[in-house]
Amino acid sequence: MYYIGIDLGTSAVKLLLVDGSGTICNTVTREYPLIFPHPGWSEQDPKEWWNAVTDGVRALLNGFAADEVKAIGCGGQMHGLVVLDAHDEVIRPAILWNDGRTEDEVRWLNETVGRDVLSEETANIAFAGFTAPKLLWMQHNEPENYARIRRIMLPKDYINYRLTGVHSTDCSDASGMLLFDVKHRCWSEKMLDLCGVNAGQMPKVFESYEVTGTLLPNVAKQLGLPESVLVTAGAGDNAAAAVGTGTVFDGACNISLGTSGTIFISSDTFGVDPFNALHAFAHANGRYHLMGCILSAASCNKWFCDEILRSKDYANEQAGITDDRLGNNRVFFLPYLMGERSPINDTNARGTFTGLTMDSTRQDMLQAVLEGVAFAVRDCFEVAKSLKIPIESSKLCGGGAKSPR
Ligand code: XUL
Repeated sequence: MYYIGIDLGTSAVKLLLVDGSGTICNTVTREYPLIFPHPGWSEQDPKEWWNAVTDGVRALLNGFAADEVKAIGCGGQMHGLVVLDAHDEVIRPAILWNDGRTEDEVRWLNETVGRDVLSEETANIAFAGFTAPKLLWMQHNEPENYARIRRIMLPKDYINYRLTGVHSTDCSDASGMLLFDVKHRCWSEKMLDLCGVNAGQMPKVFESYEVTGTLLPNVAKQLGLPESVLVTAGAGDNAAAAVGTGTVFDGACNISLGTSGTIFISSDTFGVDPFNALHAFAHANGRYHLMGCILSAASCNKWFCDEILRSKDYANEQAGITDDRLGNNRVFFLPYLMGERSPINDTNARGTFTGLTMDSTRQDMLQAVLEGVAFAVRDCFEVAKSLKIPIESSKLCGGGAKSPR
C-alpha cells in the first residue's frame, strides 16, 4: 500500500511516496516560475502547478506498483487567489500569499470595516497577502474578470479540484482567506457579503483528514493510477508541516524556513491574539493554532546568493561564517524583500543593508542576511512571549533547516 503526499510550494512542488509503515520510498521535485509583474506583486499560473504535479506523480511512481496507491493528500502555499469561470478555465494568474498590491483594500477592511469586526467574524485582521483583499482588488481593478468568477479556491484546492472534480477546501487553509469564521469552522456570511461573494462560489469546507472524493477517470488514466485512489482535503502548508514535525499538542511549536518563515504554535483551544499580530487559524488536526509569518526567509539567502553573489554553492558561501564571527558582525540586513506581514503588517517595508564599511566582506553581508531572517522570526516569537505563551523549544523544517548556519 502506498500514499502520495504533495506539497505545492512557491518555488516548486515536492512529491513524496510513502508506504503503509510511513517509510519514504521516493521523492520528486518539480520547479515552476514565480512571476513579479510589478515590484511587490507575485503571481503564478495554476496550469503550471497542474503540469508539475502530473509530471511529478508519474516520475514518483516510476518503478513502483501504481495500483497499490491508496490515497493522495495535498498541502500547499496558503492565501493565493485562484478563480475559475463557468467553463472551469483559470480567469487570471493566481495572486500569491506574498503579493502586496492590496494596500488600499487592506486599509478599507482594517479601518472602514474595522479591525474589531474582522476579528470578531474571522479571528484575524486584513493582511495584504490574505485572499479577501485580493477579491476586492479584482472587483476594483479587473471588473470584467471579477464578473466571470464562478469558483474561488486556494492553490492546493485547485490541484484537488483537478484531481477529483470536487470544489473543496479544508479549515486550516480556509482560515487564511479572511472569509472564514475560524472559531466555528464555517464561512462568515458577513465577510462573503462584504466582498460581494456568494456561498455558491466558495468551496465546501472539510477537515484536513476527511476524504473529499476519488480520482476523475481521465485523471486516473493520465497519472497511471486506479480510479479508486482517495483524495483528502489536505491542509495549508504550515499546518501540514506542523503535522509532519509532530506539532499537534497544546503549546508545541514549529518554525518553518521556506520561501516564507513561520512560527506555528499548536493549541487545543480557540484563542485570538488581542493585537492580531499573530494569525489565529484552524489546525489540520481539528483544533487551532497561532502563527506569525515573515514573507521572505530562505528566499533571502537564495536571492543574495543567486542574484547578488551569482553563486549556487550555498554551503560553500556559508563556510566562512565561523563561530567566532557570530555576534561580531557590524553589517545588518532587514529581510523585507516582499514587504512584511508579521508582526509589522507593512507592504511598503523594503530590504536594506546598513552598517557597511570599506572592510565589509561578502561573508559579513551573507551573515547579515541569515541573521536578519533569524531576527525577523524572533520578532514573531517576542509577540508570542508577550502573550505569555511559554515556548521552551521548537521543531524546525523547510529548506532553511538544511542550512549549515
Ligand atoms: C502563511 C503564508 C506562507 C505561505 C507560503 O500565512 O503566507 O507561509 O503559506 O508557504
